[in-house]
Formats: sequence, C-alpha cells, structure tokens
Amino acid sequence: MNQEYSPKVIGFLCRWCSYTGADLAGAMRLQYPPEIRIIAVPCTGRVDILHVLQAFESGADAVFVSGCHEGDCHYVSGNLFARKRVERLKGILKEVGLEPERVEMFHVSASEGPKFAAVAQEMTDRAYRLGPNPVRREVRAAWLAQQSAVGNVA
Ligand code: FES
Repeated sequence: MNQEYSPKVIGFLCRWCSYTGADLAGAMRLQYPPEIRIIAVPCTGRVDILHVLQAFESGADAVFVSGCHEGDCHYVSGNLFARKRVERLKGILKEVGLEPERVEMFHVSASEGPKFAAVAQEMTDRAYRLGPNPVRREVRAAWLAQQSAVGNVA
C-alpha cells in the first residue's frame, strides 16, 4: 500500500439490503476500510450511469454498486438494471482510458455483514492497486513517481 495515496471509494448501497449489511458489519465490529464513502439509494435501479460518471469526474478512484440478491429486489428488477448499467459503465471507462475494474456490482443482503466488509476491502484494494484516478492529476503524478522509484512502473 502507498502511504500518501488515500483512495476515495464510493459505494452506492441499496437501503433495503447492502446499506443494512454495512450497518451490521459495524454492529459486528468488523473492520472495513475507512476509505469507503457510502451513498444510500432506495434501490440500485435508481443508480444512473451519470451518477457513477459524476463520481469519477469528482475524483473517485473506485465506485461500486451493491444491491439485493437477484430475485430479492423490492422493486422486482432494479438490481438487474443496475447490473446492466455497471457492465455498460465498464465499457465506457475503457473507452475513456480508465480501468474497467474501477467499477463493480455486488449483491449483499442485510444479513451479510461479513460479506459487505469483504466487498469494501476488495474495492479498496483495487483502488490502491490501480492508483489514483487520472482526474486527480497531482496525486496521480506523485503516485506514478513513487511507483517508478520502487520499480513498479516501466
Ligand atoms: Fe435492493 Fe432493488 S430494492 S436492489
């Protein structure tokens, strides 16, 4: 991990399931990274492609959408729409030169506190591995220089 680079990881969480799962993780005193910023939404179907792109434009290093398991969405198919949008977003990120793995979709129920903690850790690890979003130019430049100094970048 890089000491100076602290990633911003945004999680759009369905309030019916993953948001409660995050709450449970806290109640269970499970550790998950403080880099996670949570935005509760009524359903992942409410998360538009533009919301995620705006998060990246604002400097997010990784974004994830986490909703009910398939078949459990309170609005029937919101999570299925969200999954399709995340797949579309991966293509858009690739087209603009960002790594597609900066965005991901997960399914975490209200009773899966440990799974939420694992998801949060996974996305934070990715953000550390991929480095700063290029819109954070100075942070990115410093990170690249440091990576180069330790031989991680050609
Ligand atoms: Fe949870 Fe739709 S209500 S994803």
